[in-house]
Amino acid sequence: MEGIMTISEIVGANKKLYLSPSLLACNFANLQADLAKAEAEADMYHFDVMDGLFVPNISFGFPLMEAVRSVSKKPLDMHLMIEAPERYFERFKQAGADSITFHLEAVKHPDQALRSLHNLGLGAAVALNPGTPVCIVKDILPLCDMVLIMSVNPGYGGQKFIDYSLDKIKELKAVIRERKLRCLIEVDGGVKLHNAKALLEAGADVLVAGTEVFHHADPASCLRQFRALGE
Ligand code: DX5
Ligand code: ZN
Repeated sequence: MEGIMTISEIVGANKKLYLSPSLLACNFANLQADLAKAEAEADMYHFDVMDGLFVPNISFGFPLMEAVRSVSKKPLDMHLMIEAPERYFERFKQAGADSITFHLEAVKHPDQALRSLHNLGLGAAVALNPGTPVCIVKDILPLCDMVLIMSVNPGYGGQKFIDYSLDKIKELKAVIRERKLRCLIEVDGGVKLHNAKALLEAGADVLVAGTEVFHHADPASCLRQFRALGE
């Protein structure tokens, strides 16, 4: 589709805050209507793919993604909660992915997986479960466009934010600053208007929010309120 901004164009805009609404909280019987409510304010969309193995839940895959791609001009960031995600990188690219976030816990060769995403021309990111320490990404950090700090155990929307995630964001931000790396910190799970300010102060760059945005009476206004917190 013409006119779609790439992740690197979006990130190159060097914003203080990127908003990535999670489609998992949408009404799938009327997805296009929900997308239309968020489209003007979202920087990208967060697309949760679950395989029933890496996480207990099963969500959605290529057909839904292609449907979203056909009606939205925003970059699509795939959050792959699946085992051996590298099997599907190319297929996700064909279906319209702009960036792929895979779980470090789900791959044997994260360095290789990040390099193959770069070779495909996709944004490359790793996600860490709440129980996975930040220090584990130290060596691969220069290969990451983003690191996703999971602030709930992945698998379901609508869970409570795990408080120690704030310390993980601070710890990662200090390393990124010290080494002058260009790597965004994304946070996902239990992100709400009431905790967004603390997340931004800790060093988060990309906020993923599902329930807060799509269960809001006015998703666009909710996203504008998030945006105002980053000003
Ligand atoms: C959870 C998913 C999240 C989820 C967040 O496994 O990765 O992206 O949609 O939902 P909320 O914002 O409702 O916590
Ligand atoms: Zn997610």
